[in-house]
Amino acid sequence: MLTVSPACVKCGICAEVCPIGIIGMDENGPTMLKNACIKCGHCVASCPHAALDHSLAPLADQVPLGDFPVLDADTAARFLRSRRSIRRYKSAPVPRETLRKLLDIARFAPTGSNSQGLSYLVVSDRSLLKKLNDATLDWMEEQIRAGVAWIQPYAHVVNHYRQGNLDIFRNAPHLIVALAPKNFPIGEKNTRYSLGYAELYAPSLGLGTCWSGFFEMCAFAGYPAVYDLLAVPEGMAVTGAIFCGYPLYRYYRLVDRNPLAVDWR
Ligand SMILES: Cc1cc2nc3c(=O)[nH]c(=O)nc-3n(C[C@H](O)[C@H](O)[C@H](O)COP(=O)(O)O)c2cc1C
Repeated sequence: MLTVSPACVKCGICAEVCPIGIIGMDENGPTMLKNACIKCGHCVASCPHAALDHSLAPLADQVPLGDFPVLDADTAARFLRSRRSIRRYKSAPVPRETLRKLLDIARFAPTGSNSQGLSYLVVSDRSLLKKLNDATLDWMEEQIRAGVAWIQPYAHVVNHYRQGNLDIFRNAPHLIVALAPKNFPIGEKNTRYSLGYAELYAPSLGLGTCWSGFFEMCAFAGYPAVYDLLAVPEGMAVTGAIFCGYPLYRYYRLVDRNPLAVDWR
């Protein structure tokens, strides 16, 4: 439901930015053409005169941006390039409030049709982390024995973690596991972005993170031990995971990557 104040100048921006074209514009101002809103809030956020309100994306809940500057290109590039996968951590746990802040930013990542739909489990219990590590390694060994092709080159990784002092979570004090309903087809895709946001935000909270790919593969395969250990609620699926904590080391240089591959048509 749209509410239009007298401040509306009928510029039509709200209708233009609507991703699904359900806002019409006539001499009376904007109107809702169809009941199919995805609650993205673009219409309300883009009104230069704060003249539009929407019951599904209330103006009162939107934070004025003012003259907040876009990061200059060099700063933004350095910020993005300085994100690294952190594999050595201090043993000190991260306060729950800091972890909550980290995940609260993940809510703002893009999701298909603004579907969101993710929740998180934060595992900090060392004995549970150990059990999740062991279950993941058990699963990896089963795949290796079964001759699954992609995992064969990682046999040494399993041996390394079985013998070493580090677990697959690199002894990080926390594992963040994303969950979505089993019947939610883009849960894993949405999670890539949400945990990607958390990864990028982490250094601002003094934290480091790393994707937990092997654990994810095991969970994506539906390995029962992992679901049992996490007590994943019925009907929910693991859609991604990162581990995190306070980094033990800092990095002094930005690395290079493969050259840009781009074609133009
Ligand atoms: C989907 C995905 C899964 C990953 N899984 C793991 C993992 O299980 N263990 C690990 O140490 N790093 C993992 N990584 C981190 C990559 O190894 C890392 O991103 C890559 O080597 C580049 O290094 P950087 O992230 O420090 O720039 C994963 C990354 C992605 C995107």
